[in-house]
This record gives sequence, structure tokens and C-alpha cells, in this order.
Amino acid sequence: MAMWAGRFAKKLDGRVNDYNESLSFDCRLYKWDITGSAAHAMMLAKQGIIKPEEAENILRGLKGILEDIENGSLRFDDGSEDIHMYVEGILTTRIGEDGKRLHTARSRNDQVALDTRLYLREQAGEIYNLVRDLINVITDKAEEHRETVMAGYTHLQRAQPVTYAHWLMAYASMFCRDLSRLKETYARIDVMPLGSGALAATTYPIEREYVANLLGFKEITLNSVDAVSDRDYAIELVFDISLIMMHLSRFAEEIILWSSSEYGFIELDDAYSTGSSIMPQKKNPDVAELARGKAGRAFGNLITLLTVMKGLPLAYNKDMQEDKEAVFDSIDNVKLTLEVFCEMYKSCTIRADKLRKSASLGFINATDCADYLVKKGMAFRDAYKTVGSIVAFCVKEQKPIEELPLETLKEYSDKFESDIYEALDLINCVGRRLVPGGPSKESVEIQIAAVKAAASKPSSSFVSEISEELAGVL
Ligand code: ARG
Repeated sequence: MAMWAGRFAKKLDGRVNDYNESLSFDCRLYKWDITGSAAHAMMLAKQGIIKPEEAENILRGLKGILEDIENGSLRFDDGSEDIHMYVEGILTTRIGEDGKRLHTARSRNDQVALDTRLYLREQAGEIYNLVRDLINVITDKAEEHRETVMAGYTHLQRAQPVTYAHWLMAYASMFCRDLSRLKETYARIDVMPLGSGALAATTYPIEREYVANLLGFKEITLNSVDAVSDRDYAIELVFDISLIMMHLSRFAEEIILWSSSEYGFIELDDAYSTGSSIMPQKKNPDVAELARGKAGRAFGNLITLLTVMKGLPLAYNKDMQEDKEAVFDSIDNVKLTLEVFCEMYKSCTIRADKLRKSASLGFINATDCADYLVKKGMAFRDAYKTVGSIVAFCVKEQKPIEELPLETLKEYSDKFESDIYEALDLINCVGRRLVPGGPSKESVEIQIAAVKAAASKPSSSFVSEISEELAGVL
């Protein structure tokens, strides 16, 4: 019988029950539901709303439920509508009368907001640490490849010389922004909604700050109607996850291309590639492809949440129960993707020789050649045109510019001297790009140091924990 059955003359239709229930997926919130309930019971006793011995009984009961769920002796199979009713129901079965006092001055509407925020707080921290791990793997590789010259691309065409370290630090920069976004989102998750009741708070003399302190929240929500109808914090986290997945997807795309025989710049470790069931020669980059594919799924979840919330009248509506599966799916997938991707990338081999060879074939020092003429006094537009004709000739001859003899170069401009060869050397071309943010070894070292500093602290430096007082009773 449902807890709210008192008002109804008929039993709920069996299929409506299946339609309505959320226990099958919100059961993952059990730890936070129990922790939140314990804090609520402690507050009720402190304020004299329930008796100290009633609270003790409740706390003992909650602790037992938590232990039994964790040791597998309690399963989520009693047909309860959701995790909140499940915990309260088991509690009442176990401790009797006092169990019925727990829900005083509380509604499932503020309870679900509390549980979700507690869960997302923890998850945001875990995702943060996984992004950090990936940044560390990227910066380690970058350090190894500070002198690995490669062609930087635009339009997937070889463009100008950079190093692989510089290229990698572009990805590190994206993931650093993800870290700061997660931190900012965390601050908006870390707000305590309990005490908002169903929507109009309560007449009981509760103390919301005490509950917030017990649960380690920085602040309490401002408005009870908003507190029970807001899901911005979940949407924001799912958006942060979408951007992480988008970044992973771009990185993945490059790994897929580069590991093909056409490029051959990356060799994936056998443990992170798969074979084909029919083509014996195949070694497929499935991990990278799945990361790229799962980005689509993450964006879908974001759209799900935005669409569920759009047009909802205040305050709580049951539509909001639909937030959970999308949020959980995004969290599970980004964590799994980050973990596997990190190991896949750590174990791959970068073929510096192939990157270098490809760099020498793409006329990527053409800009440097024009800059050389500019330094000798020619206007840039004229230099650009001159080098364009040289490149056209080189394409015909199938030769890089630096292989043309000085006499040939002089036919295009008398400003060419023997120092042109030094100017065209790819290592020198990269080395001269000394400006902050550029690919020279010095500039890249500054980038690596900045990224390392940004990613130096684990999430424990900003993720709040529940108080010792509360931890002591659970
Ligand atoms: N299972 C519900 C959810 O996830 C909990 C809140 C239900 N509140 C209500 N009044 N039906 O949203």
C-alpha cells in the first residue's frame, strides 16, 4: 500500500505503479538519502520537534539500513515508489512508531533536491579528479615531445610548423577550462535546499543552517519555491560533462585519423585496440571511436534535461523525476570514458619520425620563407607572392623549398642569401616562435608549467564533506 493511500478509495493500477516508480534508478541515491535523513532527524531533536530518544532510534535505524544495503542483505525490491519512501518504509518496519516521525517538517520535494545535490557534489569531485588525471597524462607526453616537430594543420591541410608538445597543450588547455567550469558548477550545487518543504517551507521551528553545517553545505537556498523546482545545478553539470565529451571527441577524432596507415603518427597499444571478426589485418581504434560516439549521447542528455524543464510551471512537477536517468547516464559515461581514454592515450606510441617526415613535405616553412624576405626589406604582400611562385615550382619539381639551390632561389629574388637555409630549417622555424602562447620550446614550457599549476590540486581542496558529528552517527 502506498504511503499516501489514505486519501484514495482505489488501489493504484499496476501499470501506473510501474510508470510512476523511480526506485529502480533513484536507488543509487540511497547513501545520500540516508545521510540527509540523519541530518534532518538530528535537527528535529535539537529544535525539540522530536524527542532525543526518538531521534536516537531513528539514527540507529538509518545506520542499520545503510549497512544492510551495503552488505547486500537489503534489496530494492519491495515495490516502493522511490528511494525516499523505501528508506522511510524500511525504517518504520524496523523501529516502529518513531520511524513515522522522520518526515516531520519535510517533503519529498525538498528531500529529492537535497539527495541529488549531495550526490552531484560527490560526482563533480570525482569527474574533476579524472579530468586532472588526463591532464597529467597529456602534460607528461608534452614534456617528452617538446622538440618533436610536426606540421600544425588548418582545414586538415599542413599549415605551419609546431611541436607535438604545443599541439597537445591545446588539448590540455581545453581540459583546464573544464576543471574551472566544474569548480564553478560545484559552488552552485553546494547549496542546501532542505526546509523548503513541498514548496512553502514549514511552520515548524527548524534550523536550516544546522542541517547545512552537518552536511557540509556552504549555504542554504534563498527561496522555497525555487529550491524545489530548480534543476539548474544538474543541467549545469550535464553541460560541463557535454563539453568534456566534446573535447574528448575532438582528441579522439585525431587519434583515429593519426592511427590510420595513411597518417601513421600514432600506434595504439594492443590492449586498447580491437580486431575485426572477418578482416585479420585490422587493428581498430574502438576506444577513441566510442568516446566520439558517446559525446553524442551526452549532448542528448543535456537536451533531455533542458526540454523536460522548459515550460514547467512552478513549483515541483512530476516531470522532474525524468531528470535522473539522463544525469546518471552522463555521469557514468563521462567517468568511464575519461578512465579508459586516459589509459589508452598513456599507452600509445607517438611516431616522432613520421610526424617530422610529414612536416618536411608540406611546405610549412613557406610563411617563414616570406618572413625572411620581409626581414631583408621586401613588403610582406610581395614576399607572399614571390614565395607562392617558388612553391608552385617546388610542387612541379616535387621538392621542398630548402632543397632548391641558391641560384634557383635568386631567380625569384636577389634578396636570397645562403642564410636562407638556416631560416627554412623547421627546428629553427619553431624555435623563432617565441611569443607567449607560441610553439617554441620556451613558450611551451611556460604553458606546461601553467597547466600543471592549474591542475595541481585534487577536488578534495574544494569538495565539502559531511561534519564529524554526522559521520559519527552513520
Ligand atoms: N521520485 C520523485 C522525484 O524523483 C521524488 C519527489 C516526488 N514528489 C512528489 N510530490 N511526487 O522527483
